[in-house]
Amino acid sequence: MSKLGIGFIGCGGIHHAHAPHLVGRDDARIVCAMDVNEAAAKAHCEKYATPHWTTSRTELLARDDVDAGVICTPTGFHKEAVLEAAAAGKQIFCEKPMAMSVADCEAMDAACRAAGVVLQIGFVRHFCNEWLKLREIIQEGMIGRPVQWRSVSGGSGAPTPWFFDKELGGGPFIDGAVHSYDWARFIFGEAANVVTDIRKLKSGTTAWDTGTVIVNFASGDQQVLMWSWGLPGFGYGVPADDAHDVLGPLGSIMFPGGNQLKVNLEDGEHLVEFEADTGNDWFRKQMDSFLECCRTGEAPIAGAHEGIEATRIAAAALSVGDRPAIIEL
Ligand SMILES: NC(=O)c1ccc[n+]([C@@H]2O[C@H](COP(=O)([O-])OP(=O)(O)OC[C@H]3O[C@@H](n4cnc5c(N)ncnc54)[C@H](O)[C@@H]3O)[C@@H](O)[C@H]2O)c1
Repeated sequence: MSKLGIGFIGCGGIHHAHAPHLVGRDDARIVCAMDVNEAAAKAHCEKYATPHWTTSRTELLARDDVDAGVICTPTGFHKEAVLEAAAAGKQIFCEKPMAMSVADCEAMDAACRAAGVVLQIGFVRHFCNEWLKLREIIQEGMIGRPVQWRSVSGGSGAPTPWFFDKELGGGPFIDGAVHSYDWARFIFGEAANVVTDIRKLKSGTTAWDTGTVIVNFASGDQQVLMWSWGLPGFGYGVPADDAHDVLGPLGSIMFPGGNQLKVNLEDGEHLVEFEADTGNDWFRKQMDSFLECCRTGEAPIAGAHEGIEATRIAAAALSVGDRPAIIEL
């Protein structure tokens, strides 16, 4: 089997969740690593035995042995990287959030369609058994409908400063929350409106870091996020994603971890089992699926449509700031 040549664009934190799954395979190999930080590109090559590195995206994309680009830059640079990769005819895996605005996402989608290349977005929950099981039992009506999915978290947020820059990362209500908006859409269907009241606790940053976003779905289901990345560290509030549950007319779903979801109904507690993903297995399955799409031309499980619609919710949540608002979608 000929090996698909992979080029990394951005070699920071999340790329380490992808790169191990592209080493030692029969169907793909990493050919080149690109990062604006030379040290990061070189460190990648040392760790994964990748033969080439560069600090120029244009140089990476000009390589004939690069068939696909895995884009792991700060979000504000996703659009330019995707447009250039599509123009070079490369298949594309782009980390979430797809981009910082719906217009940018749509331009990326149009470019990839015109070039006839795959565009997969890094919504890794689509490959995680726990999230899939949650969807299944809500859709089967185990706790009735409509439901309210609540999520509370508090901490210092992401490790690098760009996450707190309004233009590059946008803070928690797009960066982290886009996974949740996407998953809620996957369970409930399209959103009807977003109710938001977000503000900033941190000083010296531009993105809103703290507040509440409520997403109301046409189905009547509701998602409530009360999140903060504005604290001095972790352990100051409820840790990210630790406190969430789903409430329905017949009962509730809790997340004890491991291979179970806990469902409380009128007749008592039910433990719903699933095969737990170990390590970063879901990232492996995500990359396997991307390579399969590259080979077959099939549409990705999480593609441009998912990226655009989750960004639409995030953009609505961020469109006001510093005052409560209801935004119809
Ligand atoms: N799927 C997930 O669960 C998940 C988790 C974390 C981050 N992410 C997303 O992945 C992306 C990267 O996040 P991260 O945590 O790896 O950030 P990071 O700050 O750890 O790494 C970013 C890397 O990109 C490099 N870079 C900056 N500008 C660049 C450019 N123009 N071209 C090439 N390289 C550039 C930086 O030097 C750095 O090495 C973001 O969009 C983020 O939201 C996804």
